[in-house]
Amino acid sequence: MTATTPDAPRRLTVVLGITGGIAAYKAVGVARALVVGGHDVHIVATEGALRFVGRPTLEAISRNPVHTDLYEGVAEVRHVALGQRADLIVIAPATAHTIASLAAGLAGDLLGTTVLASSAPLVIAPAMHTEMWEHPATVANIATLRTRGVTIVGPDSGRLTGTDVGAGRMAEPEVIAASALAVVGPHDLRGRSIVISAGGTREPLDPVRFIGNRSSGRQGVALAQAALARGAVVTLVAAHLDVEPPAGATAIEVETAAELEAAMREQAATADFVVMAAAVADYRPTAVAEGKLKKDDVGESLQLQLERTPDVLAGLARDRRPGQLVVGFAAETEGDDDRLLSIGAEKARRKGVDLLVVNRVGWHEGFGSTTNSVIMLDGAGSVVGRADGDKLSVAHRILDVLAETVPTTHD
Ligand code: CTP
Repeated sequence: MTATTPDAPRRLTVVLGITGGIAAYKAVGVARALVVGGHDVHIVATEGALRFVGRPTLEAISRNPVHTDLYEGVAEVRHVALGQRADLIVIAPATAHTIASLAAGLAGDLLGTTVLASSAPLVIAPAMHTEMWEHPATVANIATLRTRGVTIVGPDSGRLTGTDVGAGRMAEPEVIAASALAVVGPHDLRGRSIVISAGGTREPLDPVRFIGNRSSGRQGVALAQAALARGAVVTLVAAHLDVEPPAGATAIEVETAAELEAAMREQAATADFVVMAAAVADYRPTAVAEGKLKKDDVGESLQLQLERTPDVLAGLARDRRPGQLVVGFAAETEGDDDRLLSIGAEKARRKGVDLLVVNRVGWHEGFGSTTNSVIMLDGAGSVVGRADGDKLSVAHRILDVLAETVPTTHD
């Protein structure tokens, strides 16, 4: 089993079983999501799976050899070794045949022996035609697996192979990965509620134009994903995200700073943690034109008059309920490390937050990227943590710091 250190997100050994259905090609996405999340992924693919997706693809994505044959690696007792080492087993797609084999406890191939030799949680993502999914044999097998504690993700309804439409489509890869990781925790936020703002607000000039910013919402969405995986009840106040909100979070869509403030204030009234990851407009047009601004009416130059928006974060921190932790973000273009820290420290104190996550942004840095590099400051402006890597690992590190080390400066 994998050791946990307080300074690093938990790296799990995950066995990803891929069986022979057309959805096997989507298993590449599951492997990728797990690898991007920082986990060590070992793929066990059936012969059937390898007819749908190539071994080199799976090896490149998982960064490990792909195992298929029960009679390879006999000297290292591979038929049980993989299962014994696993922290988590995910089977995606799980065909009707695989589900029947699992229910019967068959050990005729490497995936079967791996599952039987393991005490790790098992998560399966069924994929098959609707008739097969609804067949009494499959229904009974699924019921058996559920009683043994197996987690079933999906299937979704939608377009199947050929012209069929119905239940049986494999769940989306990111959903499978996130649901699987949620099973193993850590569940240190179980029962806690967290509201997270993400994305960038847009302030309208007229019905077709707005003043906005380049925030993609990826770090806020990763925080939502990480919090869900750790058992929290998550609300995402979403301002124009480039990515889908995670399944399992309640998403509230907002446009402007004013809408974001109203949604955050309402949600913060009952939340344990409040995280302002959204890039909120600091200024908005003082007047919004009813109709589209026309060049003939405006002339050769256009002067915009803008007014300050409320500082949502400072307001939330000031009015926080007892015990609530408030987290802000600071995206800065300052190149000098010392000055970046002193700007951050001043901002943490000025906004009255418990934690300020500082990151550097620029023309080619920060926004839209899948990785991040952050420094965390407590309410007094002292450095309490750093994180580097994909946004999901950074999110976990922020939650670690939040859950463990942040002194409440407002008591
Ligand atoms: N924020 C907010 N309301 C605003 C502006 C920002 O709640 N009107 C929040 C952001 O969500 C972020 C934090 O404040 O968590 C820091 O935002 P930032 O733009 O770095 O800070 P500002 O106070 O706007 O300072 P600056 O003058 O550096 O822009």
